[in-house]
Amino acid sequence: MANPLFSKKPMEVLMQESGASHGLKRTLGKYNLIALGVGAIIGAGIFVLTGQASAQYAGPAVSLSFIVSALACAFAGLCYAEFAAMIPIAGSAYTYAYATMGRGVAWIIGWALILEYLFAGSTVAVGWSGYVVSFLDKNLGLPIPPELTAATGTKLIQTPDGWEAYSDELVQSLSAKGILVDSLPQITTLINLPAILIVFLVSILLIRGIKESATFNNIVVAIKLTVILLFVAFGWQFINTENWTPFIPDNTGEFGSFGVSGIFRASAVIFFAYIGFDAVSTAAQEAKNPQKDMPWGILGSLIVCTLVYIFVALVMTGIARYTELNTAAPIAVAIDKAGEGLKWLSPYIKIGAIAGLTSVILVMLMGQTRIFYSMANDGLFFKTFSKIHTTYGTPVTSTVITGAVAMIASGLLPIGVLGELVSIGTLLAFILVCVGVLILRYKNPELKRPFKTPLFPVVPILGIICCTSVMLFLNPLTFLIALIWLVIGVGIYLLYGRFNAKY
Ligand code: ALA
Repeated sequence: MANPLFSKKPMEVLMQESGASHGLKRTLGKYNLIALGVGAIIGAGIFVLTGQASAQYAGPAVSLSFIVSALACAFAGLCYAEFAAMIPIAGSAYTYAYATMGRGVAWIIGWALILEYLFAGSTVAVGWSGYVVSFLDKNLGLPIPPELTAATGTKLIQTPDGWEAYSDELVQSLSAKGILVDSLPQITTLINLPAILIVFLVSILLIRGIKESATFNNIVVAIKLTVILLFVAFGWQFINTENWTPFIPDNTGEFGSFGVSGIFRASAVIFFAYIGFDAVSTAAQEAKNPQKDMPWGILGSLIVCTLVYIFVALVMTGIARYTELNTAAPIAVAIDKAGEGLKWLSPYIKIGAIAGLTSVILVMLMGQTRIFYSMANDGLFFKTFSKIHTTYGTPVTSTVITGAVAMIASGLLPIGVLGELVSIGTLLAFILVCVGVLILRYKNPELKRPFKTPLFPVVPILGIICCTSVMLFLNPLTFLIALIWLVIGVGIYLLYGRFNAKY
């Protein structure tokens, strides 16, 4: 008997399922798809993690880190595009893998994607909290008690610029100004309440049934892009090139702490900023011409975001010294540093960030419930996750459980830990997608491939190498947690999926 780990989900079933559950109109052109990708991509990565990656690992050279991560994503993106065009139905890497490589690989990808989407919602919620707290305090004069504004156990110091997380870089930058840290008020936080609140509100929206509307998405993308472009256009004049010197700060003696290794370490952290372009593939059924437009959507959104990120990083580290950017709202901090000339932009940036981040949380949590739904529908995950509520027409149980876990994670864990968990889950899925393209080209050369990854087999091999290298720069603790996650996954498969799988 054939090994069940290699059993595949028949293509006819996939087509049937997608046809039955959607009946969607093919309305999206390539520009809509690019907008969809940009909408899912631009979020906490640029609004939050860039500042931290620059302050802790790369300095102004974080703009180079964006190029490194973009390369890894581009190679994986080309492989993704090959799959998305080959199986142009609503789905994700999990679905592609089940149809082409079999149950075992599909299960691992699905389980890795859960790590990605579930914690991505929490990560972005923490970023949302940073901007909301800053907006309420600095722009509306309504401070939230600092104990309720960051991950449990974070040490905060009240600097002249407000409450900031304790770090060696902050201590150094304060002492350079002649301020002794011990002379400042300090507290330890209890929980990140605004982050919990936004996950709660988004989960309620998802339960009540929010229609994915391309128009709504286009508006949010426009707002996000506008505030970012305003920041670049107006911030450019306030750049003090001294802040770029040295552009690549000397390595501190520790691997990954500035210098060349720091650029790579930062690229592993800000890899998070690119996550989401695969969301384009979920709209394959609504694309007018999926074979042609999927690659456009995936690669186009990647290119737009790479350019935006490089410019934002240059302006941010040009206006503020990188040592001052280890904060939850670095763009807001950079604007404050620019002084009166840029002050008018501050509320717009924050409102733009808050709106933009809300939409990313929504997309991520919705993506998560859909992955659960697909896996449960195939019998690989508990049946209750595929139940659709009769009144709301949404997967209520799945959304409640997803929301509850995301709420706990966003309230308790710092953004750095969450972001790295998301990155490792995504990188694993990307590597498997590249491997999948390689295997399938040799095993099933006859399959119709409307889009072929160019320079085969160089691109998938480079994808595997780049994604693995970026992964190796993640924190060892992230590997440990990911390993525990995989062990739990294998346990669930052995106890449940193995006996209930339909294909
Ligand atoms: N790329 C998305 C973000 O940066 C997940 O928030």
